[in-house]
Amino acid sequence: MENQGEFHLQQRKGRRVILFPLPLQGHINPMLQLASILYNKGFSISIIHTNFNSLNSSNYPHFSFHSIPDGLSQSEASFADMVALLSLLNVKCVAPFQDCLGKLLSNSVDGEKIACLITDAVWYFTQTVAENLKVPRLVLRTNSVSSFLVFAAFPLLREKGYMPAQDCEPEAPVPELPPLRVKDIPVFETRIPETLHQVQLGLINQTRVSSGCIWNSFQDLEQVSLATLQKEFPVPMFPIGPFHKYFPASSSSLLSQDRSAISWLDKQQPKSVIYVSFGSVAAINDTEFLETAWGLANSMVPFLWVVRPGLVRGAEWTEPLPKGFLEMLDGRGHIVKWAPQQEILAHPAIGGFWTHNGWNSTLESICEGVPMICQPCFGDQMVNARYVSHVWKIGLHLERKLEREEIEKTIKRVMLEEEGQEMRERIMYLKEKADICLKQGGSSYQSLENLINYILSF
Ligand code: UDX
Repeated sequence: MENQGEFHLQQRKGRRVILFPLPLQGHINPMLQLASILYNKGFSISIIHTNFNSLNSSNYPHFSFHSIPDGLSQSEASFADMVALLSLLNVKCVAPFQDCLGKLLSNSVDGEKIACLITDAVWYFTQTVAENLKVPRLVLRTNSVSSFLVFAAFPLLREKGYMPAQDCEPEAPVPELPPLRVKDIPVFETRIPETLHQVQLGLINQTRVSSGCIWNSFQDLEQVSLATLQKEFPVPMFPIGPFHKYFPASSSSLLSQDRSAISWLDKQQPKSVIYVSFGSVAAINDTEFLETAWGLANSMVPFLWVVRPGLVRGAEWTEPLPKGFLEMLDGRGHIVKWAPQQEILAHPAIGGFWTHNGWNSTLESICEGVPMICQPCFGDQMVNARYVSHVWKIGLHLERKLEREEIEKTIKRVMLEEEGQEMRERIMYLKEKADICLKQGGSSYQSLENLINYILSF
């Protein structure tokens, strides 16, 4: 057995995989984690990346990095209209990417074979480039399988009149996609709705004709959705997540992480603190920001709050807070610009996570057994939040307007009451499943073996 393992490792040496992450934090992290997983399995790694949100290669001295000009102007390189940004990237990167990939393919070092290309599913233009250059393209979809199925159902949802949903009752169930309600159908604010349609079609259709799709998820979490996916998409599927549990916390953070968060947590009681973060893109207005602040303060529960510069529209950072707000709390609250989130969720003082339900945050919370308060903002987050609250029952959905009494009540329900304890028990069970799936014989372990053999077969 050992010899066979050694044989496979030797076989992989001399094989290079080229990865192309989408330049957004929630997409960069899982792609670089996947790169590390493949590297640890013996593959050489090349990363192609855009100038926009350029990567810090010094954290990965064993990978080779290749930067391409994305041609975005300063005003175009903005999250204000995410759909417009994604569409533009898929147009402007075609020529530089093709050029870079072509060079990498023709200049392979020491007779090393380039086994395949792995790109984010949102880089849909790369399928045609890969076909032209005759290199197999695998896709990494960084979101949940369940939300992908909802994106794939957009044409049906349009046909049935759910999109746009102006005439539908927001609380009404969507019988075609249980357990979703009309208000959970992913929305993206954009000035060009037709472009959303194109991006969605590109993402789905170019995944359908790829050589296979890799998922940061695991069987026991999304069994039903994975079975549906396999029926609807005729390409090999590799659910090998949760990626971040393959090794100790790694850093592909675009912002520097404030470690004062950890020393502050060290002084708190076990399971006493609520951690609050809305990820790398979502934004709120100043009224919502103030309601959040007062809801946290009035709950009397200690809190660690990530206020990313740009979180509050129109503000630099925390200036809309009343003067002396934190001082008034006498050490019960701590605010940082960006935090080492994986370490925080694993800290014994953390008892709950108030999140926007980006898929990475959702998985990271599950892997540490931390129950959630769900406040989805856009896109796949709406689907993830519904699964957290109504399928896995490991969190409470802040469904109504963001206002302080509701926030205070919800924090207390999760942190202090019996129903919070029940959610904690359910999420601890999922955490165990996540641990098991990565061990020999587990579903993700096996799926990774399948993926490696598949890459070697090219
Ligand atoms: C985006 C989309 O918003 C989300 O819906 C999609 O699922 C992925 O892309 P983002 O807002 O970045 O996601 O959230 P998320 O997916 O949760 O990823 C955020 C990452 O940043 C996580 O890995 C988290 O650990 C990390 N993070 C967050 C930090 O390292 N520090 C912080 O302070 C906050």
